[in-house]
Amino acid sequence: MSQPLEAGAVAPPTLDTIHNPFLEGPFAPIQQEITATDLVITGEIPRELDGRFLRVGPNPIDPGDPATYNWFMGTGMMHGVRIRDGRAEWYRNRFVRDDEVVAKRGGKPVEGPPHLGGGTRYLRSNTVNTHMFSQAGKTWAFAEAGVLPIEVTDELETVARSDFEGTLNGSWTGHPHRDPRTGELHGIAYYWDWHHVSYQVMGVDGRITRRIDVPVRGKPVVHDMALTEKYAIFLDGPVNFSHELQDAGFDFPYAWDFEYETQWVLISRDGTSSDVIRCSLPGQTAVFHILNAYDLPDGTVALDGVSYDRLFVNDRTGPTESPSKLDRFILNPRTGRTTVRRLDDRAQEMPRIDDRRTGSLHQFGYFSSRGDEGSQVLKQHVERGVTESYAYGPGKVGMEAVFVPRHEHAAEDDGWLMTYVSDLATQTAEMVIIPAQDIASGPVARIHIPQRIPLGFHGNWIPSEHR
Ligand SMILES: [Fe+2]
Repeated sequence: MSQPLEAGAVAPPTLDTIHNPFLEGPFAPIQQEITATDLVITGEIPRELDGRFLRVGPNPIDPGDPATYNWFMGTGMMHGVRIRDGRAEWYRNRFVRDDEVVAKRGGKPVEGPPHLGGGTRYLRSNTVNTHMFSQAGKTWAFAEAGVLPIEVTDELETVARSDFEGTLNGSWTGHPHRDPRTGELHGIAYYWDWHHVSYQVMGVDGRITRRIDVPVRGKPVVHDMALTEKYAIFLDGPVNFSHELQDAGFDFPYAWDFEYETQWVLISRDGTSSDVIRCSLPGQTAVFHILNAYDLPDGTVALDGVSYDRLFVNDRTGPTESPSKLDRFILNPRTGRTTVRRLDDRAQEMPRIDDRRTGSLHQFGYFSSRGDEGSQVLKQHVERGVTESYAYGPGKVGMEAVFVPRHEHAAEDDGWLMTYVSDLATQTAEMVIIPAQDIASGPVARIHIPQRIPLGFHGNWIPSEHR
């Protein structure tokens, strides 16, 4: 296990943490669950689009003490827009019903197997707030760290907790990656009381078909992973579980451990827990989100990720203590070393690619950024070192942009970016559809939503034919 945290790690709340920025402005929770139909559209929705655009994010039904509330732990709320024949048929937002939501809003308890975390305070009532996927004809909200997935209906009503028909070992991930060749979902799960992480593969039938448990030195957060043709890869990094913070009542009991060496861990997709390679980094780095990774002809691996120099040293409310940068890591399995090259210095997050490129060379990445020009979407030409951008405008805040190809065989950037944009002045939102080959031209369609959508986490476009 790792060394004690640096002095001050369990510092008493400061004025800054009592004034919790993740409960205000674009993050402020909303309480109404609404359904709006036949939404007003500015522009034109491409006729090719038939499906649902779904997102989930933190929306605390009761944040409790602002000094201990962490953005990662807010009650999950889902937002969705149904698109068909050039129309936006509905917008819905619904809480992911967990025990706390049932207690406050009533209704029957959610059924299903128990969460690994049981009734502990850690993870606040087993919140499911991280991502939405469709697999095996079902729609799911996912979370990590011992919290079971929640199945929801096409219209975002909670169905039940699930352990994938008894095939899950108690912990899944908020960030699975779909292998475009097989349709399987690959994820790496962790839990604060485990001394390993669990690489798991969900088949197209919605059941876990493969599992490799890999020991880790500490109890790191493993929020995301990468998939190449050879490897499943995760960061064994410095943000580690802290019993002291858990005992002190913090919602997110993880802190930067200054003694913990950062390593990328490569798991051979065809191997066993003994076929694991560790590639050390020159310094300490946290990477919560990975854009993509792929195998290079010389046996190394290229991995693009959003990195931080320091997080969760003193601020327990969210990832605030260093800006996020875009880096390319080259992992060398022969030497056990990693080299790092900065691709872009701008603060950016929520990376997405054309998911058909998962595990293969990608030319483009799409990011959310908040800089001098306000909230914007970035299109990074990672091979050419060029960046395009589109700013949403004063008082507007955009979220993770999801790439949707124009058709199955379209080129890598031939399609649209979809996201939600909130207008803080009017307390409304829009779903925007932006042509990915010309993002500077702005949305071809803006679908008007009659309430603000709090800055959320992740989601997907779920085409009707893939249900
Ligand atoms: Fe995430």
